[in-house]
Amino acid sequence: NGKRVLVTAGGTREAIDPVRYIGNRSSGKMGYAIAEAAVARGAAVTLVSTAALPSPAGVNVVKVESAEEMRQAVLAAYDAADIVVKAAAVADYRPTIVADKKIKKAAEDSLTIVLQRNPDILQELGSRKKSQFLVGFAAETHDLEAYAKEKIAKKNLDMIVANDVTAAGAGFGTETNIVKFLFPDGSKTELSCLPKRAVADKLFDAVLQRLPGAAK
Ligand code: C5P
Repeated sequence: NGKRVLVTAGGTREAIDPVRYIGNRSSGKMGYAIAEAAVARGAAVTLVSTAALPSPAGVNVVKVESAEEMRQAVLAAYDAADIVVKAAAVADYRPTIVADKKIKKAAEDSLTIVLQRNPDILQELGSRKKSQFLVGFAAETHDLEAYAKEKIAKKNLDMIVANDVTAAGAGFGTETNIVKFLFPDGSKTELSCLPKRAVADKLFDAVLQRLPGAAK
């Protein structure tokens, strides 16, 4: 109650030309559930989203498409935030050149699109962290815990929500999720298969146990 919470949701879309993009299978449902859980607890919530889901009541929704647009919107809200939850699936790469006209079929059987690295928004937030409690997500298909632990260190996180997106009932597009919370001190909480909104409430229970000065 009274905290400022910044949440990101959905998969970014990286333009190829005016009608095409490179995207991913993120639905935005986990991020929206987190925003709803935060507003239900009395937080002031900004949700930076690429998803076409209905805006939750009482949430300040900022719609974006690409990783770079998400970065700008997140950085604008970062300094004022107490808790940041980066649930969005941000594209690691974008097309180097965005064609200004629709790319037409040519005689060749193949077409090459060269990609360049996007900025890692979460890593940037971690490197300029002041008092924010920073929560990242790790969606993996293998070696889940090892990658998640690596990200806590590399991105200077206070908590990571790790999910194996290949498990039934977990990951992209589903109504439920199966996650583990991992913390910098090595502690870990494993949750069973739960609706995404219940995962969101468990997430804030875990954050509040660790947030200095917060009512438990
Ligand atoms: O390294 P990986 O992409 O698996 O990390 C996932 C976490 O990092 C998520 O919280 C995601 O929102 C964030 N991320 C980001 N910017 C990127 C890539 C990932 O903020 N370019």
